[in-house]
Amino acid sequence: MGGQNPYIKDTEIQLPKQPYELTIIDEQGAEHKLMIDPKKIPYDDHGLPGSILDICMAHGIELDHACGGVCACSTCHIHVIEGAASCNEASEEEDDQLEEAYDLKSSSRLGCQCVPNGTSPVKIRIPTWNRNLAREPHGAEGMTTKDKE
Ligand code: FES
Repeated sequence: MGGQNPYIKDTEIQLPKQPYELTIIDEQGAEHKLMIDPKKIPYDDHGLPGSILDICMAHGIELDHACGGVCACSTCHIHVIEGAASCNEASEEEDDQLEEAYDLKSSSRLGCQCVPNGTSPVKIRIPTWNRNLAREPHGAEGMTTKDKE
């Protein structure tokens, strides 16, 4: 699943017109410095075009996105540490989903809905845990006996 949620009104976004620096601190605390080229946006079909989730997926940086990036969960919760003013405003739907996230801060956003416009460097942190840690089972451990048949 991917793309946008047809049940929520279009979120106003302004895509970057010039390259900008995006720093991502991943769940393990590793820092990734990326130069985002506006010509490459959108990378794929993960959340809003140019969203932090879209960028993470394109650069191999893990960011959970249980709903596929359609603003219907809170697994893509991030903290925007710097450059928040250059990002689109959170919609009501995004704020509603964020209420479900652990470690909620004034800097909290959903990675699939947060789109920097490129007018300043942006730095984000991916929290180490969130409410949706009970993920879909992956691999044999999470399978029931019926699944293995
Ligand atoms: S991936 Fe579900 S809200 Fe962002």
